Amino acid sequence: MNVTVTGTSLLDWSGDGLAIALFEGAELSGDVAALDQKLSGAIAELIAEVEFKGKSGNTASTRIAGSSIRKILLVGLGNPDDLKLEKLRQAAASVAKLAKRERCKTLALSFPTVEDAAATTQAIVEGLELALYKDVRFKSEPDQNGKIESVELLGLAGQEAAIQTARQICSGVFLARELVAAPANYVTPITMAETALAIANEHGLEIQILEKEDCEKLGMGAFLGVAQASDLPPKFIHLTYKPQGTPRRKLAIIGKGLTFDSGGLNIKGAGSGIEMMKTDMGGAGATLGAAKAIAQLKPDVEVHFITAVTENMISGRAIHPGDILTASNGKTIEINNTDAEGRLTLADALVYTEKLEVDAIVDLATLTGACVIALGDNIAGLWSPNDELADQLLKASGESGEKLWRMPMEEKYFESMKSGIADMKNTGARAGGAISAAIFLKQFVKDTPWAHLDVAGPVWADKENGYNGAGATGYGVRLLVDWVMS
Ligand code: BES
Ligand code: MN
Ligand code: ZN
Repeated sequence: MNVTVTGTSLLDWSGDGLAIALFEGAELSGDVAALDQKLSGAIAELIAEVEFKGKSGNTASTRIAGSSIRKILLVGLGNPDDLKLEKLRQAAASVAKLAKRERCKTLALSFPTVEDAAATTQAIVEGLELALYKDVRFKSEPDQNGKIESVELLGLAGQEAAIQTARQICSGVFLARELVAAPANYVTPITMAETALAIANEHGLEIQILEKEDCEKLGMGAFLGVAQASDLPPKFIHLTYKPQGTPRRKLAIIGKGLTFDSGGLNIKGAGSGIEMMKTDMGGAGATLGAAKAIAQLKPDVEVHFITAVTENMISGRAIHPGDILTASNGKTIEINNTDAEGRLTLADALVYTEKLEVDAIVDLATLTGACVIALGDNIAGLWSPNDELADQLLKASGESGEKLWRMPMEEKYFESMKSGIADMKNTGARAGGAISAAIFLKQFVKDTPWAHLDVAGPVWADKENGYNGAGATGYGVRLLVDWVMS
């Protein structure tokens, strides 16, 4: 799909589909009113006919006979006072899906400006690209129908750079979606390392891949305990983006990278959604996706991308429930549940990352079913002892439309993880399970500002939802990019 920006007026445009965004009330004014006149009142007629109210997300379309515009597509923006970039993204996504159904090969969009022309262009292109993404890798005969060939953004002349920015960000989102959607026989610790290497080579990042022996030398007993039953070797991936000149700040992003989580000997039962545990590397997918995007965007910030990748499997070599593992900071952990494995891999990743002396660490993890129960599948949980970092992330959430809700860091819940024999257990009480998981992670961070995002819900959409089709969403990439760039 070729996207261009032009100063063409909607009065002069010709092609398959002209999409016009209207606020609540759907009143026609300015160029839109003039176009309606030129089309003998066809737009006003459509609005009356389908009782189009301009509510956010509403669409309508009509065929224009004998005109150089084949179809008029209307999309609602809701109340002008609530107009944010996310509304533009969603409206662009609605237009994209409608235009595809209406078989528009050439499309133009006439949208109002939010913030400035660059931000507007970027949001519209993101909405279009994200909504039109389709994963056909595993189809022997992909459906090729309804391809949109060209899109013109009217009234946004000169914003070519913003198109490129949107595309670079989306390339990271698509990588994350592909990694999360691909099953565990395609995405393994080995292929994750290969993907990281490919990003490093293509976009000029530094890369270090620690093999099992390297992790042993660093004393990563928690990560290696989780990995020990798998026939596949664990991979500890560390990508670094360094700007030219002195970085304004140094940041680190850590992603949980379980390419499959069977639960281990505390195996997930039938009906537990075990087949969805191919998505248990959603945090790592977002981390690599963000690396790909940030390497192209080139901010003046140093960013470390880290993931400890493995499977959680069963075999004669599996950790037994009750085993005691020693993490790389010397802390001992009694494994009272082998299915609470993500926090074990993150423990060693956090200890490793803190040695890099960055200004802030953010981890993303499909950590608990409890977080999905608490916040549903649209919203990630945010935990942080640091208000400033939490506020930065909430701001990035607002800008990107990737939803976050701050949750309490309730230290008292660590009591349920007290162990009689080791420093702690890996699993606490069932009630508040997402909170105790966050408190567990906190044991492995000393004093670097740190935030934990439990993304178990939003990495996957069971059904189509705005610019996310059914399947992997790539959640986290745009949030992280926004956080790093601001
Ligand atoms: N990967 C799961 C969490 C998960 C559940 C992600 C559902 C996505 C959807 C995690 O490793 C896990 O198994 N967590 C356990 C923790 C429990 C044993 C304390 C859970 O949530 O049940
Ligand atoms: Mn698990
Ligand atoms: Zn898991």
